[in-house]
Amino acid sequence: MGESLLFTPNYFERLRLPKGLTVYLRHVRPEDKSLYVEGLKRYSKNSFYFRFMSAKTHFTEAELAYLTEVDQWNHLCLVAGSGPWDKVVGLASGRFVRFKDDPTTAEFALFVGDSYQRYGLGRAIMLRLMYAAKEREVQTLFGEMFRDNSAMFHLVDSLPVPANWELEGPVARMTLSLECLPPAEELLPELARKAERRRSKSEKRLGFRGKPSN
Ligand SMILES: CC(C)(COP(=O)(O)OP(=O)(O)OC[C@H]1O[C@@H](n2cnc3c(N)ncnc32)[C@H](O)[C@@H]1OP(=O)(O)O)[C@@H](O)C(=O)NCCC(=O)NCCS
Repeated sequence: MGESLLFTPNYFERLRLPKGLTVYLRHVRPEDKSLYVEGLKRYSKNSFYFRFMSAKTHFTEAELAYLTEVDQWNHLCLVAGSGPWDKVVGLASGRFVRFKDDPTTAEFALFVGDSYQRYGLGRAIMLRLMYAAKEREVQTLFGEMFRDNSAMFHLVDSLPVPANWELEGPVARMTLSLECLPPAEELLPELARKAERRRSKSEKRLGFRGKPSN
């Protein structure tokens, strides 16, 4: 993966949200299975119902492997924790999975634990998913949710690009085109600066001196 990606394999971020909640973000890892198992005990049935669109009482081994053993390119997942990752409480996660039959489109899903909702964490993760998807050549993010998921409708309304909605019975489907996403410098300035520093370091290492003149 290139040096100028915002979401390199070692991506790590300490994020202070406007209402004073501090969270730690990184890519999901195979050893995070326990975060999912604990999360299912800690957070409400209702939140899991909205996330999985069916009642969720346990995760099978195969589901846990699917959720945590990802390649971070076609299937990327960011997790938010309460601390710098030693025995943390899992607070939230967001993922996208590229469609096999249309590699320019990926389906996303978001989850924020009940007591951490309404702090801006869902939006922060969604923004990061949008940039991570775009730098992985995804052009459109697709999402499916219940029509009465007002939290998700509000979140999508607060994003920097407009969504197209389709309603069918109890289900709402939306697409977000990433084409008009503002430059990362505007919305994720710290990550953009870090990526720029990595890029210029790597150019120095390679002895790159700019475009040669004729
Ligand atoms: C939907 C969900 C991810 C939102 O996460 P969140 O961290 O609470 O959302 P944020 O705090 O980032 O809110 C983003 C915007 O939506 C608004 N919002 C969030 N929840 C809201 C609610 N229940 N009612 C009204 N507005 C709401 C916020 O006020 C904010 O808007 P603002 O910036 O104009 O104030 C979270 O509620 C959740 O995980 N729910 C269960 C799982 C789920 O529904 N997943 C979605 C299926 S893909």
